[in-house]
Amino acid sequence: MFDTLEFFTKRPGIFDGADTAALWADPHVARQMLALHLEPGHGIASRPHAEIAEMAGWIADDLDLRGKRLTDLGCGPGLYAAHFAAAGADVTGLDLSEIALDHARRVACPVGTFRCANYLDDPLPGTDVATLIYGDVCALSPAQRGRLFAKVRGALAPGGTFVLDAFPPAQFETREEDSEVALRLMDGFWAAGDYVGLRRTYLYPEHSTALDRYLIVEPHRQRQVDTWLQYLSPEALTQALEAAGFRSEPARDAVSGQPWAGGGRPFALVAHA
Ligand SMILES: C[S@@+](CC[C@H](N)C(=O)[O-])C[C@H]1O[C@@H](n2cnc3c(N)ncnc32)[C@H](O)[C@@H]1O
Repeated sequence: MFDTLEFFTKRPGIFDGADTAALWADPHVARQMLALHLEPGHGIASRPHAEIAEMAGWIADDLDLRGKRLTDLGCGPGLYAAHFAAAGADVTGLDLSEIALDHARRVACPVGTFRCANYLDDPLPGTDVATLIYGDVCALSPAQRGRLFAKVRGALAPGGTFVLDAFPPAQFETREEDSEVALRLMDGFWAAGDYVGLRRTYLYPEHSTALDRYLIVEPHRQRQVDTWLQYLSPEALTQALEAAGFRSEPARDAVSGQPWAGGGRPFALVAHA
């Protein structure tokens, strides 16, 4: 117990042990995530549904998706995929969560192809358009990001397009270092039965990065989950894309597709291979 708590309370080096899969693969957490995704007005797991329609709308109009292969990385339950397919794209969704994929296949987008895959490790299908939506790029370490961008570049056909969105550094200014401990922390999000949940948030201001470290202690099991978020400026993300061989258009407001006005609004980049 001492070792566990000592590890939990020691500030780790930035992105030490970053592993996006640990959070999403747990079946109970995946079911909670699906429920959050499907609440139309909720913004935790995905955007409110009206914003999803608006964002998918400008992407579809701008890229003219008719007849194009589109790969949605981290597609979740297929909420964007459904709009892209309706706009004429031949959609493939990749995600770690079988529970989300099952919803995508059966309910959200039966015409799409959905595969359980880790986009950091598994091969990506050849495609004309790739999307990575809801700030998922911010959950990656710079090394993971570089690796993913190179893979996406390799999977895109000549003239292909990569669309991704991110949370800007102004949002980091609202974060605080704090801790929390509660019985069934986050209303049962972490396990079906009883558990004690601890959260400690560490900030790395020089990198606009936050780590939420959770320790979930159930009667017969305990686990730690780290969620990293690096808030990125359009310039930093553009540079990372350029390093992988992309040419990026100026930032747009992620939801409306209009030129990005700065501040705390999420932005999107449309990058060409
Ligand atoms: C914040 S949700 C967003 C889902 C969807 N893009 C949306 O906006 O509705 C992130 C999704 O990415 C998936 N994911 C995270 N890391 C992944 C990885 N390395 N490979 C594949 N999927 C991943 C999760 O399972 C989850 O469904």
